[in-house]
Amino acid sequence: MTRTLCLLGHPVAHSISPRFQQAALDALGIDAKYEAWDTAPEDLPATIERIRSGDVIGCNVTVPHKVAAMRLVDRPDAMVERVGALNTIINRGGLLHATNTDVAGITGALREAGIEAGGKDVVLLGAGGAARAVVVAMRTAGAKRITIANRTEAKAHALAEVGGPDLDMRYAPLDAADPTFRRAVSEAQIVIQSTSMGMLHGPDETGTPVPTELFSPGQVAFDLVYVPEETPFLRAAAAGGATTVGGLMMLIHQGAEAFRLWLGQEPPIDVMVKAARQALAERG
Ligand code: ATR
Repeated sequence: MTRTLCLLGHPVAHSISPRFQQAALDALGIDAKYEAWDTAPEDLPATIERIRSGDVIGCNVTVPHKVAAMRLVDRPDAMVERVGALNTIINRGGLLHATNTDVAGITGALREAGIEAGGKDVVLLGAGGAARAVVVAMRTAGAKRITIANRTEAKAHALAEVGGPDLDMRYAPLDAADPTFRRAVSEAQIVIQSTSMGMLHGPDETGTPVPTELFSPGQVAFDLVYVPEETPFLRAAAAGGATTVGGLMMLIHQGAEAFRLWLGQEPPIDVMVKAARQALAERG
């Protein structure tokens, strides 16, 4: 019998997860269909019940349900607590386990690029939901220091408890003219971009929070934004001589970790990347 996997979000039509997850299932000959289930917030409890009682192996959860779904599952793990959101549900015989694979996505993308965050001086641009997962990933990797640069200072300070006692956390205004920001970025070994800047159709499509002159060779620039694949931030970083890592790799690696948890099999990363790029190209 064909089993089902799904994505819960609202909207979900733009998501490329169904494309690259299905490509991985097909490549391994697994008889399962990955479907996008557009779920309005008021329908979330009933949809989660449908997963519990049906032949659904599990699902990915995206905006706007990542926090609301936490109280609807049976076994959210420690990662859900730490990140404050879930993105993966695994149905184990009617018992719904949940985790957050965004941290694995961040770690996987950096590992694949040969980058080790342990002992490093990191600047994190942004302090939203994605930034929380970055702080957990940097804490787990044993980064030395993280300077959070955000437009709204209070949100950066709210991330302090996520970093724990061993991570030296600082704040800088997200302002390319600010001396604290300029020094933090130019001295950092890794700069991670988690704001919506540079995102296609976002609030500031053409903007980069960091200009080229603050980058130098030996630095790593990692953008969580993946549409477009080469963001203004990554273009500025490359022009300054930094090594770049794109957000598509994080998206793929968070999906790959979910795949392992649902199916206990290693997904073909190269197949997923190819399918994701094709889906993005078709979307235009
Ligand atoms: P996500 O889940 O993708 O992290 P989010 O929680 O809405 O999304 O967070 C968006 C982040 O992008 C925030 O850090 C936000 O800054 P504020 O905390 O000041 O709101 C940042 N952001 C969004 N648009 C921005 C812009 N035009 N300039 C600078 N920062 C921006």
